[in-house]
Amino acid sequence: MYVLLLCCVLSVTSALDNGLALTPPMGWLTWQRFRCKTDCKTYPDECISEALIRRTADKMVSDGYLAAGYNYVGIDDCWMEKDRDKDGRLVPDATRFPNGMKAIGDYIHSKGLKFILFQDYGNKTLMGYPGVLGHEKTDVDSFVGWGVDYIKLAGMNVEPSKMDTGYPEFGRLMNESGRPMVYSCSWPAYQGKPDYKSIREHCNLWRNTFDIQDSWASLTDIMDWFAKKPELVEFAGPGHWNDPDMLLIGNDGLSVDQARVQMAVWSIMAAPLIMSVDLNSIKDEFKHILLNDRVIAVDQDEMGKQGMRVWNKSNCEIWSRELSNGYAVAFVNRRNDSAPYAVAATFDDMRVPAQNYHVEELFDQEYLRCYGTMDRKFRSRIKPLGVKFYKFTPMKSNEISDEHYQCYY
Ligand SMILES: *[C@@H]1O[C@H](CO)[C@@H](O)[C@H](O)[C@H]1NC(C)=O
Ligand SMILES: *[C@@H]1O[C@H](CO)[C@@H](O)[C@H](O)[C@H]1NC(C)=O
Ligand SMILES: *[C@@H]1O[C@H](CO)[C@@H](O)[C@H](O)[C@H]1NC(C)=O
Ligand SMILES: *[C@@H]1O[C@H](CO)[C@@H](O)[C@H](O)[C@H]1NC(C)=O
Repeated sequence: MYVLLLCCVLSVTSALDNGLALTPPMGWLTWQRFRCKTDCKTYPDECISEALIRRTADKMVSDGYLAAGYNYVGIDDCWMEKDRDKDGRLVPDATRFPNGMKAIGDYIHSKGLKFILFQDYGNKTLMGYPGVLGHEKTDVDSFVGWGVDYIKLAGMNVEPSKMDTGYPEFGRLMNESGRPMVYSCSWPAYQGKPDYKSIREHCNLWRNTFDIQDSWASLTDIMDWFAKKPELVEFAGPGHWNDPDMLLIGNDGLSVDQARVQMAVWSIMAAPLIMSVDLNSIKDEFKHILLNDRVIAVDQDEMGKQGMRVWNKSNCEIWSRELSNGYAVAFVNRRNDSAPYAVAATFDDMRVPAQNYHVEELFDQEYLRCYGTMDRKFRSRIKPLGVKFYKFTPMKSNEISDEHYQCYY
């Protein structure tokens, strides 16, 4: 009986314990913005190269991204030569990474940042570069030698059924290397019925579904995909996260309001915040969204409890998350009729316990207000294809009894 109980308690809580990603990882990767540009003659500022990584690392520090928490920077697909060397080792592209990968790792570390590098679990990456299959140990050794701190392992060109043992095996090699490295898996994205218990035991984060593309349609497709799977929430927590994919913010596909929607919903979902944008040319209004410390604090809440969509009506949605010191509630308006849309919600609609709160809008679109058990429904007006993102902080009891306490409605 005792043994039985112990087994079940353990199986409920068992998760990868490498001491990393205790809050969702934050950083920058090449893919969404720079894809597989390898032609540095035609696209000198956009090709996947040492120059791009160095100038991005510089900007991460000088423009405040590192200070805001974005401490990982790295390279997605298309950094390799098409063939391994005679000893079976991966070779970085000789023209685009003339000083090799260790030089990249050293430069990133010299800036106080950590190094993300992409590979693929199959025998080829999406863009046709060599994958790790058959070379797992050699590749882990290379990554360790280059000072990699975070491996993103995609899952193209391999049988999805092989992943249930292959991803854990690769993770075991990572662990045995002795170098702490965040393990980003893509395992569930390729399977119909992923074994999330096992995935959580072996990965720090995992892509659940299809790649995000630079558009509102793609963003809302991913939001809907997650909203229909509330059962995913239980698999997230400190050290192990669902990953709805990169931030589009600052690129061409989203307006400022739509970019706020992504930042708010990703924070509710305790999603990794991985930017992919040209930090040299990003416009200030997008930069402010990425650097919004109060929104980042929601994403990075130490309790690590993922939230989800809890209400939707007439193309308006409420996303809600419990925090260690309150609640975060995003009202998302997916209507395109060109006027703010008015919503009134109960405590239950918002999944917020009935008590008295200070309420602030985290994108500075409203004054601080109070909301409590004496009030009627909570009211908000949201721009078309936009969001109001509220933090509900419980009032202290002495504030409630203080008759001089002023609240602005
Ligand atoms: C690549 O992987 C697939 C799926 O596991 C396999 O069928 C195929 O034979 C492999 N190709 C090569 C060249 O190894
Ligand atoms: C390897 O796994 C053990 C057991 O989970 C863990 O304590 C240790 O931190 C891991 N080491 C690395 C380098 O990931
Ligand atoms: C909104 O909720 C309704 C019922 O709760 C559901 O039928 C509908 O599919 C949801 N909308 C979206 C976009 O998922
Ligand atoms: C506005 O939304 C409706 C309903 O979702 C849709 O049918 C219509 O195409 C949209 N119009 C524009 C201009 O996006």
